[in-house]
Amino acid sequence: MIKRLLGKLDRSSKKPVDLERTDNVPRHVAIIMDGNGRWAKKRGLPRIAGHHSGMKAVKRVTLAAKAAGVEYLTLYAFSTENWKRPKEEVDYLMKLPMEFLELELADLIRNNVQVRMMGYTNELPKQTLNALEDAVRKTASNTGLILNFALNYGSRREMMEAVKQIADDVQAGKLDCNQIDEQLMSTRLLSGDLPDPDLLIRTSGEIRLSNFMLWQLAYSEMWFTEVYWPEFSEEHFHEALMEYKRRARRYGGL
Ligand code: IPE
Ligand code: IPE
Ligand code: MG
Repeated sequence: MIKRLLGKLDRSSKKPVDLERTDNVPRHVAIIMDGNGRWAKKRGLPRIAGHHSGMKAVKRVTLAAKAAGVEYLTLYAFSTENWKRPKEEVDYLMKLPMEFLELELADLIRNNVQVRMMGYTNELPKQTLNALEDAVRKTASNTGLILNFALNYGSRREMMEAVKQIADDVQAGKLDCNQIDEQLMSTRLLSGDLPDPDLLIRTSGEIRLSNFMLWQLAYSEMWFTEVYWPEFSEEHFHEALMEYKRRARRYGGL
């Protein structure tokens, strides 16, 4: 009996987990890519240099996620609150998707990646939106990793808009109050048919959600690192996946 118990303890101990195993890979990983500005400051560079360098991390992590067998990768790129930043910084952040796609779209297509966006994207500058829509269109039939960019995304607004939509449907007689359940609410969010994230990663040492996927992260595992986003490597990503494998998700049960 005691031996059996000890055996159990041993299995759950923190020994390294083989990444080659395909079991227990999170289906959906969401990342709050934070620390670009501080990374730049540490090097005496302007903040936008940090954002530029962060773009390379996006590519690295996309390929690492694909290789690990992750199905969905959601990246928080711009929040509904980020408009508060100085105009020059916002302008640069709005140019970044164009720059990124110009550089990387062909390779994303080669890698069978499907690009999606999640957020109030109609409020983005026309050129930014065009570039993103072009990427979404050109990758729509790809069947590999879904790379979902959260752009002008804010979770409170998302939930509020979903509630308004549902209320409208009830008022119009299209929906009965009794039909409102968690499933319906989920599908009315910007994340639509995406499954909830299994794993949330936030870089740069901040331990908060900053209005990111508040509904969808209800039972997600969270992993925080001090590393700034531009220096986030495949190894860091694997570290997070290995930690995920060791976690026991109970969803309130035993
Ligand atoms: C994350 O890095 C990128 C965006 C929020 C667009 P930050 O720009 O927030 O970098 P820090 O947190 O100021 O270092
Ligand atoms: C969250 O980072 C938003 C993105 C990564 C896009 P912020 O840097 O905006 O978050 P706060 O302001 O530190 O909470
Ligand atoms: Mg930040």
